[in-house]
Order: sequence, then structure tokens, then C-alpha cells
Amino acid sequence: MIYLDNAASTRIHEEVLESMMPFLKEQYGNPSSIHRYGRLAQKAIEKARTQVAQLINANSSEILFTSGGTESNNTALYGIAKKYPKSRVITSSIEHDAILEPCKKLEMEGFDIVYLPVDNYGLVDPHVLKNNLTENTSLVSIMFGNNEVGTLEPILDFVDICKDKNVVFHTDAVQAVGKVTIDVKELGADLLSISSHKINGPKGTGALYIRKGISIDPVILGGGQEMGIRSGTENVANIVGFGKACELARINLLENISKMKELRDYISTKIIQEIPGVTLNGHPLERLANNVHLTFLGVNGEDLLIKLDENGIAASTGSACSVKIQKASHVLQAMGFLHEQITGSLRLTIGISNNLTEMDKTVEILKNVVKELRSVSPFKEKYSF
Ligand SMILES: Cc1ncc(COP(=O)(O)O)c(C=O)c1O
Repeated sequence: MIYLDNAASTRIHEEVLESMMPFLKEQYGNPSSIHRYGRLAQKAIEKARTQVAQLINANSSEILFTSGGTESNNTALYGIAKKYPKSRVITSSIEHDAILEPCKKLEMEGFDIVYLPVDNYGLVDPHVLKNNLTENTSLVSIMFGNNEVGTLEPILDFVDICKDKNVVFHTDAVQAVGKVTIDVKELGADLLSISSHKINGPKGTGALYIRKGISIDPVILGGGQEMGIRSGTENVANIVGFGKACELARINLLENISKMKELRDYISTKIIQEIPGVTLNGHPLERLANNVHLTFLGVNGEDLLIKLDENGIAASTGSACSVKIQKASHVLQAMGFLHEQITGSLRLTIGISNNLTEMDKTVEILKNVVKELRSVSPFKEKYSF
């Protein structure tokens, strides 16, 4: 198999798995316990907190462990917005459902939610954000890098605008961490979401960076763990693995980015040169190091996925990494794509262990599969390449 769905999830790193094992076997104490077992677990959590913090140049006291990107996003939205009932919350129309769904809920509770539009590349215009900020705005949440088309948003501009008006700024950086250098001190964002399984760590763990001075209302109440913001006995093994994944991502960051970019540019150029009727979606330059998102005109993306799977390639349409039901991509709709451009889309996302041979094989298989699907397509007259 050639695995090109690394935006959905990544293979756990061998060293990460090794770091977790003792906490699944003999070091099973509850981190809140006073005895030696408890203290060991607590110490391991604090080490992991430092490892996560170092990846984004935060202080370890600014890292809150969660169950993943979804919970981090929910905590940021509810944790800030609920302090200001019926206030305005600004987000973008291309966010992951882990932002859009809580926003819908807040809307039902009387909050004024603004979904900013994007251009054909998936970029939010900072001027439009500025024009939508009101006295009543409690929070702005705009993603760092889009999970479908890979476009990187101008976060620094958004932060400047929000700082000017004293509005809290959150960014969902689940796809960006490990693919972009992120320094929260330079960035200036107040809140930032991270997920472990996107960076070769275990699933079901993540973090929310909460800048010192920003206060969050707890969303999960109970025993008061995680600074009282996120109660519940910590998932020690996962947290330890997540910490290790962050450490490895930090040590190898520049090398990983340049390798992924090289493979990304190699495969996208080759596909476009060798297969007619293909376009690259998202911003051509301002994009995630590992994202290739394409439209194959006259082809159904889901048929393409099935054919690729039969031929040993795991890819995605990009629109449904959280649910089994395939729905038309809200991201591509917001970018103004036509129906056939949306249905013909394919996302290939590169990981740290992919190589050039795999890229060549993928192009060869794609060539054959696309030709085959086009020959039976209802659009075959329209797209007779
Ligand atoms: C941009 C983005 N945000 C949030 C999530 C959810 O993260 P998790 O799977 O850790 O809950 C994802 C997962 O695909 C994502 O791509």
C-alpha cells in the first residue's frame, strides 16, 4: 500500500510507541495520587507538556491537554464565547466541522455567528475580518491551514486586527503543526489547537495552547485536572506519546517540511503534466507542505478513491475525514467551485515516510485509473481529452 492520507491520520512513530508502553503496562498510577506511581505519572505528563510547548515556543503552563483537535476547538469556542452571552463570534466558511458544529450550536443559543467568505484559493481577506469586528465581538476563530485544499491563511494579519480591538483570536492549527514553523510568541494568537495523531502521535490526544492571561471557562467539570479547565483522569500513555511526537516533530521540523514540499511539488507537477484536465486547488504557494488537492474533470472523486484503493493507494476526497457519509465539500463550495469540479476532487497528503518511488507509482496508477473512469463517464463527450 502507498499511504497518501496523512491529513486524516498518520502512522505512529516507533519511538512514540516505545515511550508509551511503560505507561500502558507497569506505570499505571493515577497522576493525582500522592504515592510514587502517581508522582511518576504526573512527572511524565509535565515532561510531555514541555515537549508540546517547545514545538510551538510556548511556556509549558500555557498547554492544556485535551482528547484531540475536536475538543481543543470546542474548548476554545465555548470557553471564551460563553463568558459573553449573545456576543458575536467570527469564523470562516471553510473551517473543519469541529469549529462549524459548535458554532451552529452557539448560533442556536443566540450568539451572532459570522462566517467569513473566502476567495477562489480559500483565503479569508483580512479587510473583511476588520469590517466585521464589532464592539460585541468576543472571539475570532480562523484556521491556520485548511484540511482539504491546504491553503494557509494570513494569521499574522488576523492577529494584528484582533489585537487592535482587544478581541481574543483562536486558530485551529491541527493541520499546520509539523508542516509550518509555528512560534506562538511571534504569532501572537491567544489560543491554538493541536492534534497528536496528525503528527505521528497516538489518536485521542491533543492540546489547546492558551496564552498566559487568557481565561477560559471550563467545559468539562469534575476533579479539577488540567488547571480546572478540563477535568478527568489524564490519558497518561497518550499524553506521553504526544509529547514524544512533538519532540520528534520539533527536532526534524525543517527537514520534514523540505522533504514533504519536494514530494508535494514533484507529484503535483507530474500529475498535471501527464494527465490532461487536471487542476491544482488551493493556493499555489501559500499551502501546507504536505497537501496536493486536485480536480480531475469528468471523473467522480469517490470512484477514483475506490479504484486507487484497489490499486494499493490510500487517498481521500478531503471532504469527509470525520464522517462516513460523503457530502459535497463546503470548502470547495465556499471557494466558488462548480458541481463537477467538486465531485472530481482528490486529496493526496504526504507523510514523513513517503518517498519519490511511491510518487512515481501513484502517478502511473492515477494515469490508468483516470483514463478508465473517463471512458465510462457521463461527461465523456464534454471532457474528451
Ligand atoms: C483542521 C482540523 N481541525 C480539527 C480536526 C479534528 O481533530 P481530531 O481528529 O484530533 O479531533 C481535524 C481532523 O481532521 C482537522 O483536520
